[in-house]
Amino acid sequence: MQLANTALMTRPTAGVELMAETKMNAIVQDEYGSADVLRLEQTDRPVAGDNEVLVRVHAAGVDRGVWHVVTGLPYLIRIAGFGLCAPKTRIPGMDLAGVVEAVGKNVTRFKRGDEVFGTAIGAGAFAEYASIREDKLALKPSNLSFEQAAALPVSALAALKGVRDVAKVQPGQKVLVIGASGGVGSFAVQIAKSYGAEVTGVASTRNIEGVLAIGADHVIDYTREEITDGGRKYDVILDIAGNRSLSQLRRALTPKGMLVIVGGENGGRWIGGVDRQLRAMMLSPFVSQKLTTFVSMENPEDLQHVKELAEAGTITAVVSKTFPLSQVPDAIRYLEQGHPGGKIVITM
Ligand SMILES: NC(=O)c1ccc[n+]([C@@H]2O[C@H](COP(=O)([O-])OP(=O)(O)OC[C@H]3O[C@@H](n4cnc5c(N)ncnc54)[C@H](OP(=O)(O)O)[C@@H]3O)[C@@H](O)[C@H]2O)c1
Repeated sequence: MQLANTALMTRPTAGVELMAETKMNAIVQDEYGSADVLRLEQTDRPVAGDNEVLVRVHAAGVDRGVWHVVTGLPYLIRIAGFGLCAPKTRIPGMDLAGVVEAVGKNVTRFKRGDEVFGTAIGAGAFAEYASIREDKLALKPSNLSFEQAAALPVSALAALKGVRDVAKVQPGQKVLVIGASGGVGSFAVQIAKSYGAEVTGVASTRNIEGVLAIGADHVIDYTREEITDGGRKYDVILDIAGNRSLSQLRRALTPKGMLVIVGGENGGRWIGGVDRQLRAMMLSPFVSQKLTTFVSMENPEDLQHVKELAEAGTITAVVSKTFPLSQVPDAIRYLEQGHPGGKIVITM
C-alpha cells in the first residue's frame, strides 16, 4: 500500500481538511494486479454531468466483481470492456451509498441532500465523491445504515434476477442455494424464502449459523457433506459458488428441475468459470432438466424493488467487516482469504 504524500500518511483527517474543494481522496490503480497495485491518492473531484448525480460517498461494497476488475482476471473481463491492458476506470469499486452533493441539469429524481445507494460501475466507488448516472441510483432504504445499503446493489440485484426472473421460484419449491453465506447467496436465500420456497443453504462450518439466521430452512456444511449425500433432490439449484460438475449438480435436481449458474471462481485465468456456464446452456436442450445462467444488469426498477424489499424487512444486509478507505487493499486481501460471511464494506 503506497500513500500519495506524507501528510496523508501521518494526519489523514488534516489532509482532507486542507484539501482544496476540487480535490478528493480516492483509491486508484493504473495497472491490473494484486491488492498491491492499489494506492490512496488525492485526485480531482468529479463534476456531475448533465444526467449525473454527484454523490458524497459514505460507504462502498467490496465483492468478487471488484476483485475481478482490480486483478483483470479472468482475462475475459478485459475483453468485456473493462480495459485490455489496464483498467479503463482508475478508481475501482461498484456499490455505493451516500448523500447527493449536486445534480446535473437534466436530473429530475434527486436533489442535494438526498440519501442514495446504487452502482458506480465506470465511475468508481472507492472515493470520497462519485458522479453517477441518475438511473444507477435510488433513494437509500430508510431503515438501513449507509454501510448496510452499500452491501446491497450488485449482490441483491443478482440474487433478485436469479430467483425471480431466471429460476422463477414458486411457493413450495425446494431450492438449494450453493454459496448461501456469500454476498449474492445471502440475498438469494432471503428472496427465495419470501416467495414461499423451502430453502437449503450451502456454506462452510463457520457460516452455517448465519445462514440459518437469515431464514434458511436447512443447511449443508460443504466441508462435511456433499449436496448429493442422502439422495436429496431440489426443484431449483442456484449455483453461486463452488464449481461443482454439471453431472453432480444434475444428480441433485428433480427430473424437471432447474439449475441456474450464477457464478463460480477457480475456473482458470482466461475465462474463469464461464466454460461451465456455456456447457450447461449447450446441454440444456438435450436433457429433461433446464440448465441456464445469466449476467445481471442493474436497472432502476429493480434497484427500487431492492429498496422496497429492504424497507419491508424482506431482505437484510449481512455486513461481515468494514475497512476505512485507506485500507481497501486489506479489504481485497480479506476477500481473497474467503469465508467473509456476508459483504465487506468500505467506510468514508
Ligand atoms: N451472474 C451474475 O450476474 C453475477 C453477479 C454477481 C456475482 N456473480 C458471481 O457470483 C459468485 C459469488 O459472488 P459473491 O459475491 O456471492 O461471493 P462471496 O461473497 O465470496 O460468496 C461465496 C460463497 O460461496 C461459498 N463457497 C465457497 N466455496 C464453496 C464450495 N466449495 N461449495 C459450496 N459453497 C462454497 C462461500 O461459503 P463460505 O464463505 O461459508 O466458505 C460463500 O457462501 C462470483 O463468482 C461472482 O463473480 C455473478
